[in-house]
Amino acid sequence: TVLVVDFGAQYAQLIARRVREARVYSEIVPSTMPVAEMLAKNPAAIILSGGPSSVYAEGAPRLDRELFDAGVPVFGMCYGFQLMATTLGGTVDNTGAREYGRTELHVSKSSSTLFEGTPDEQSVWMSHGDACSAAPEGFTVTASTDVVPVAAFENDEKKLYGVQYHPEVMHSTHGQQVLEHFLYRGAGLTPNWTTGNVIDEQVALIREQVGDKRAICGLSGGVDSAVAAALVQKAIGAQLTCVYVDHGLMRKGETEQVEKDFVAATGVQLKVVDAEERFLTALAGVSDPEQKRKIIGREFIRVFEQAQAEIIADAGPEVAFLVQGTLYPDVVESGGGTGTANIKSHHNVGGLPEDLEFQLIEPLRKLFKDEVRMVGQELGLPDEIVQRQPFPGPGLGIRIVGEVTKDRLDLLREADAIAREELTAAGLDRDIWQCPVVLLADVRSVGVQGDGRTYGHPIVLRPVSSEDAMTADWSRLPYDVLAKISTRITNEVADVNRVVLDITSKPPGTIEWE
Ligand code: XMP
Repeated sequence: TVLVVDFGAQYAQLIARRVREARVYSEIVPSTMPVAEMLAKNPAAIILSGGPSSVYAEGAPRLDRELFDAGVPVFGMCYGFQLMATTLGGTVDNTGAREYGRTELHVSKSSSTLFEGTPDEQSVWMSHGDACSAAPEGFTVTASTDVVPVAAFENDEKKLYGVQYHPEVMHSTHGQQVLEHFLYRGAGLTPNWTTGNVIDEQVALIREQVGDKRAICGLSGGVDSAVAAALVQKAIGAQLTCVYVDHGLMRKGETEQVEKDFVAATGVQLKVVDAEERFLTALAGVSDPEQKRKIIGREFIRVFEQAQAEIIADAGPEVAFLVQGTLYPDVVESGGGTGTANIKSHHNVGGLPEDLEFQLIEPLRKLFKDEVRMVGQELGLPDEIVQRQPFPGPGLGIRIVGEVTKDRLDLLREADAIAREELTAAGLDRDIWQCPVVLLADVRSVGVQGDGRTYGHPIVLRPVSSEDAMTADWSRLPYDVLAKISTRITNEVADVNRVVLDITSKPPGTIEWE
């Protein structure tokens, strides 16, 4: 394992992903973890991430020198580089000489492990205030910039390396190569980590954990729960039962995708609960978005728990495990806790033991989203499931501005299906993060169709590009694709006489309209 020490900011996750892209397994640890504890994990190498601090700021995170003396190869980046420099006796000046963004790096490769085979001049991404002016004793300076005399240093004997910039971001043109040089040449690691290993490892673990007991998994139609279920299915087969709640708010063909394609690909035992009527009844007369979300969430839990109760009533108390599609970013962001959490399920269904507890199975908790997709692919799941764009749990219920009714849902399903079909046909699925299609059910506008006046509803297209849904920009879709979608929706969907495009970034607009 390569440990990525997280000094704050958002760089550690990206570094960990890049290391895995180099097919070396990596994990993130907080910089507050004592060095002894880091070393106790027996890391093959350690990477120190960037961070928002200046090494001179009060309370700036430090590192015990012991880390550099343990014989473990270390690579410092940005803040990690400066920390390495000051800890080992180099000089970092609080010069106020700032460098942000794209910078030219001048490389001297005469004896460089990191830069071998890369150009003498390369673009790198900088973000720092302080500058290193002298490397620690025993280190060779291997790069500089116009502003910073020491922008990279290496000590091959001690296997310590550092760069002032961010090799993990794509703007650093040879960043991945430099990182790989550290991993393969500096630390002597072999690139052999693959998602295939993950599958084998998890299958063995799950088998051992579950024994001859049984597990339940809720399927949402999304990537994470589908891949988690497929992995557990591979491990324990018929001991797993999946539950899919059809709340009637899914898009066209989605329920069938789970019912047919997912089952066909995995052979999983699936219990589909048709709860459309129940949800529509609960939503009747409600237009407030928060109100809708609460109702959908509440009904969902009730239906899921009832299905769970039925499965337990059938199978007996050996149903002890609940499968969840928790991903590594969730784990890191919630403090990186390890070990199996025990959750108590809240039953409001009669006939269950009061204190029934499930143990969680979270087979994806070490993986990033793109790795989850690879695992899904390897498990033979269809592309329509594995490459699926995000879709909110409350479904089309929060894409109808106004009251949710069956007629309106059917109308929106048609419009959405057309938009998705045309985006896919134009090859745009990978370029956009997602494209909500929204029905403004409370708005009407005048139109003319055939010989007559119409008084119909607008449909909003909300195509966005994003990296993590925290921020987003509206996608500049080609006009001819937009035109095709507009023409088809207004011609093919009754009661819709206008298609409009949402050109708002996030912030200020959220991706969904409700
Ligand atoms: P917003 O609208 O907040 O959405 O910009 C950010 C991302 O989250 C998705 N989203 C949800 N996903 N349950 C989910 O599982 C929800 O209640 C929910 N609301 C929004 C949204 O589609 C976008 O990708």
